[in-house]
Amino acid sequence: MPVITSKQFRWIEVENYGEMSRLAAAIFEQQLLSKPNSVLGLATGSSPIGFYEALVARFKHGNFSFQEAQSFNLDEYVGVAEANETSYHSYMERHLFSHIDLPVAKRHLPIGMTKNIHAECERYEQAIIQSGGIDLQLLGIGVNGHIGFNEPGTSFTSKTHVVELAEATREENAKYFLSKETVPTHAITMGIETIMNANQIVLLAFGDHKTEAIKRLRFEGISENFPASILKEHPHVTVLFGK
Ligand code: F6R
Repeated sequence: MPVITSKQFRWIEVENYGEMSRLAAAIFEQQLLSKPNSVLGLATGSSPIGFYEALVARFKHGNFSFQEAQSFNLDEYVGVAEANETSYHSYMERHLFSHIDLPVAKRHLPIGMTKNIHAECERYEQAIIQSGGIDLQLLGIGVNGHIGFNEPGTSFTSKTHVVELAEATREENAKYFLSKETVPTHAITMGIETIMNANQIVLLAFGDHKTEAIKRLRFEGISENFPASILKEHPHVTVLFGK
């Protein structure tokens, strides 16, 4: 008998950033309501800020809890201390962790200050596997199609690894630092296969500067030159986009 896989790839064009954020928060709320011990994959950057606000608002409304959940962030810069305000640890603390009841021990990000980066990558990948795997992964998309910090050319079979950031990515992220020169050159990121192993994925892309990336994602074929294109092979993706 042929194996029939049901594939759900939804493109949802939103009116504004607030609508995108609320729809994404509703998907995460639903996930936690149906499985309180969900493993959540989280992202940083400008796209999810409104999403975290909306999720915190829903949490404060009191319908669900993060007590039994776990989270794994996509990435962290190498060489930036956790306490530094430009670290992704700090970002998560500011936008989500300090507002919810997710136990500290269940919040996972790669440790960018580690002495042994390769061991840290392996540890992180194993921790995701040990957790039972990611139920719902949040993603943004870079203008060059990167997901996590998987830049064009990254193998689709990559696991958590260390990357050298592309110039375009360092330029995009310079706004969070004093100057482009101070943007870290390397990061630890979940690999593309790590991301593709999530049961469900929600990708956020809002603004004129993301239009081209969304067009390429929609209409171009699958290629390692545009990392996000692999998502079209995933069984359950929702892309929330608009400008
Ligand atoms: C963030 C991450 C990146 C961003 C992407 C889009 O954890 O892994 O892939 O999602 O660079 O960034 P923004 O949302 O700032 O446009």
